[in-house]
Amino acid sequence: TQGPLRDTFGRVAKDLRVSVTDRCNLRCTYCMPAEGLDWMPNDAVLSADELIRVLTVAVRDLGIERIRFTGGEPLLRRDLEQVIGAVAALPRRPEIAITTNGLGLTRRIDGLVAAGLSRINISLDTVDRERFAQITRRDRLDDVLAGLAAAKRAGLDPVKVNAVLPDRADLDAIPDLLAYCLEQGYELRIIEQMPLDADHAWQRARMVTADEILATLRTRFDLLPDPAPRGSAPAATWIVDGHRTSRGPAKVGVIASVTRPFCGDCDRTRLTADGSLRNCLFASSETDLRAVLRTLPDDEVDAAIAALWRTDMWQKAPGHEVNAAGFVQPTRPMSAIGG
Ligand code: GTP
Ligand code: 5AD
Ligand code: SF4
Repeated sequence: TQGPLRDTFGRVAKDLRVSVTDRCNLRCTYCMPAEGLDWMPNDAVLSADELIRVLTVAVRDLGIERIRFTGGEPLLRRDLEQVIGAVAALPRRPEIAITTNGLGLTRRIDGLVAAGLSRINISLDTVDRERFAQITRRDRLDDVLAGLAAAKRAGLDPVKVNAVLPDRADLDAIPDLLAYCLEQGYELRIIEQMPLDADHAWQRARMVTADEILATLRTRFDLLPDPAPRGSAPAATWIVDGHRTSRGPAKVGVIASVTRPFCGDCDRTRLTADGSLRNCLFASSETDLRAVLRTLPDDEVDAAIAALWRTDMWQKAPGHEVNAAGFVQPTRPMSAIGG
């Protein structure tokens, strides 16, 4: 078979999220235990050359138009610039993005942009120093803020900020976080926490919902409906009345994966750092590409990857079952899937 990555519900994947490492230099409580996890051994992780080969097939043969590098923390890969550079040189150049915690970004941003990076999302849950150190278990707020500023200085626009609220008490601080983002010209998106934590401690009743987030923001800001089409984006956005950015009216987003799933419009496929395909964040099975890369004769690899990928997508479920009675959390935690 030929052509793009279709599933049986008529969706076509054009967006690929690539986890380049499962390691991280923060220990956000909603993601990892304080001691970290059993990291993938180095030889289990795809090399830059292997990644480039898979991404070339994705773009050339499978219709992938956007690639986002995630982790763990993607900046922990010293060869990220090399991978981005190779992808940017492909004939049908995809849009290239990263989702990062921002640590060390000041030293990497110019090289990343020169290599071809065009979009960036940076995780920042609070601008309160003490709370930041509690949530991430590291006192690195200043480094993240410096990373954000560096991304803006490098000309990336918009710079998006991702906030997860681990606790209902964190609601009180989100108007301050929005005020900071408006002042700096960043686009804030607040995320409903999904059951992908390594500790399996997520509880539906403890999760801060989109409705609570919006009600809290409205105590300090006027939010107007955003007329722009949402497409396949996870974030629903609102215009923040009275605030502007260089691009036009300022916006704030809410990613309501649990209370308002957007699976019907999903256009995503995922690759893990150890070379497995996942057709959904919550997929219950994966397709191993690493074995193909490492064992098939060189001239058979590309066609085998493309065929396996199409088959993997054909098995994509209509949506996640987080709200269903028998929901079982995937074995891989968020840090090994890539968000
Ligand atoms: P944009 O292209 O800038 O909209 O990026 P994004 O929001 O898709 O990606 P980002 O990496 O910034 O992720 C923000 C949040 O959305 C994280 O919590 C992700 O786990 C979540 N997310 C990303 N893709 C999906 C998805 O396909 N399904 C669900 N349920 N959540 C997703
Ligand atoms: N649910 C939702 N989002 C999460 N993230 C990390 N863990 C979770 C979770 N359990 C966010 C990160 C990052 C993005 C990739 O996903 O904060 O911004
Ligand atoms: Fe797509 Fe799965 Fe995310 Fe739903 S949960 S939007 S199907 S990746």
